Amino acid sequence: MFTGYSRRHFAKLAGFSALGMVATAAKSADNEAKPAADRHAPASFPNDFIWGTATSAYQIEGAVNEDGRGRSIWDTFAHTPGKIGDHSNADRANDHYHRYKEDVRLIKELGVKAYRFSIAWPRVFPEGTGAPNPKGLDFYDRLLDELLKNGIEPFATLYHWDLPQPLQDKVGGWRSSETSKAFANYAGYVAERLSDRIKNIFTINEAGRFVNFGYGWGIDAPGLKLPQAELNQVHHNVALAHGLAVQAIRAKGRAGTKIGVADKYTDGYLAYAGKDAPKYTAEELKIISSPNDFVGLNIYAPQFYVAAADRAPGFSVLPFPASFPHMNSEWLRIGPETAYWVPRIAAKIWNIDTIYISENGTSSADKIAADGNVYDLDRIMYLRNYLTQLQRATSEGVPVRGYFLWSLMDNFEWIFGFEKRFGLYRVDFKTQRRIPKLSVSFYRDVIARNAIGI
Ligand code: BG6
Repeated sequence: MFTGYSRRHFAKLAGFSALGMVATAAKSADNEAKPAADRHAPASFPNDFIWGTATSAYQIEGAVNEDGRGRSIWDTFAHTPGKIGDHSNADRANDHYHRYKEDVRLIKELGVKAYRFSIAWPRVFPEGTGAPNPKGLDFYDRLLDELLKNGIEPFATLYHWDLPQPLQDKVGGWRSSETSKAFANYAGYVAERLSDRIKNIFTINEAGRFVNFGYGWGIDAPGLKLPQAELNQVHHNVALAHGLAVQAIRAKGRAGTKIGVADKYTDGYLAYAGKDAPKYTAEELKIISSPNDFVGLNIYAPQFYVAAADRAPGFSVLPFPASFPHMNSEWLRIGPETAYWVPRIAAKIWNIDTIYISENGTSSADKIAADGNVYDLDRIMYLRNYLTQLQRATSEGVPVRGYFLWSLMDNFEWIFGFEKRFGLYRVDFKTQRRIPKLSVSFYRDVIARNAIGI
C-alpha cells in the first residue's frame, strides 16, 4: 500500500551536512592595500567545468512493450494497486523512446554540454542474462548519435533501479550474487558495444536508496522487507556488482573509458553492522575496491545536522524542528550548504580527484500562468543557493568537475507518479508537449556566464 510517508525520512549518504565545522579564511596582511572586491560580481566556476542535465530510463522512456524490452521490477511494482501515489505507471511516461530527437533539442537549447541518462537493462537483456536483444541496444545507438551530432557529451548510468523481473523471480534479484554477475555481464556488453561513444560510465545510481527502500522498507520495487542481516547481504551484492562491472568494463570497453560511483565498505560500516555484517570473501573485497575514476554525488537535502560529542562515533544527531523549510517534496529540506560540505568531505575521505554532482534539483508546484509561462521561482531560488555553495567549493579547490541538474523534464517520479515535477521543462503528459519553465533561462544564463551571481 502507498504509505504516503516521505522516503527521505530515512538517512542516506548523499546529502548529509555537518554542523560545527567552520572554515575560516586567513586574513592576509595586504588585504587593506587591495581594492575591495566587487561584492556583486558573479562568482565563476572553473573554465573546464561541465554543465549538464540528467534523466533515467524508466522515468522517461515509456514504450515498455516495444522492440523486445523485457519487464522490470518497476513495471511490476507500478502495476500493483496502491503502490504509486497517483495510481499511475510509466508505461508511456514521457514517450522519450519515440521523442528522443525532440528531447535532445531541448537539451541543446539549455546550453549544456553533457547529458546523464540511464540504459534500461531489460531492453538490452530482457531476461537479465542470456541472449542480448539487439533492438534494445539500437535505441541507445540512435540516442548517442543524436547527442553527439548536437555536441552533447553522453554520461551513461547502467543501473537506475529497473532490474529485469526474471532475475527477481529466478534468483531473488539483488539477494543473490548471481544478479551481481549478470550485471557485470551486461556492463561488459554495453561497454563493448557503446564505449566508442560513451566515455564516462556510472555503474549504479544511489545503491543506498534502492536497497533500503526496495528490500528493507518495502516502499520501492520490489517491495520486500528483509531482516537487517539479509538486507546487508543485498548491500554487499550490489557493491560486488559494481566492482565486477568496473572490471568487465575495463576488460571489454575502449581504453580510457572512465568509470565511477560506488558504495564501499568502511571499517565504520562493518563495526556498525556488527553481527548483521554481510558475509564476504577477501577476493570479493578486492573486487569491490577496484579503483574508480570518479565519484558521483546526488545532492538534494540535508539528512542530518550533527553536534560534536565526546563519545563514539564523535557526534550526535540533532532533531529537525517541524518548521524546518522544505521544497515541494516533504523530504526535500532546504540545505544549500550540502553542496559545499558533501563534495569537500567526500574528496577528503575518499581521496578522489574527480567528483561530479550527478544530481541536484527540486520539485516545484509550478503551473502554467495566464500568459502561458511557467514561473518556477522556488526552483530558481533553490538552484541559486545550491550553486552558490558549489561555487564556494570549487573556488577552494574541491575537485568538482561537473554538475547534472535533475531533471531535464518532468517525469515519472517513482512512488509519487506524475504528482511531483522536477523538470526544467514542463511536460503535459496527455499531449506530451514540453514547455520551458523560467528556470531554463536561469540555468542557460549560469552556463553562458559560467558563474553564479546577481
Ligand atoms: C533521486 C533519484 O534520488 O531522486 C531520481 O536518483 C529521482 O531518480 C529523484 O527522480 C527524486 O526523487 P523522488 O523520490 O522524489 O521521485
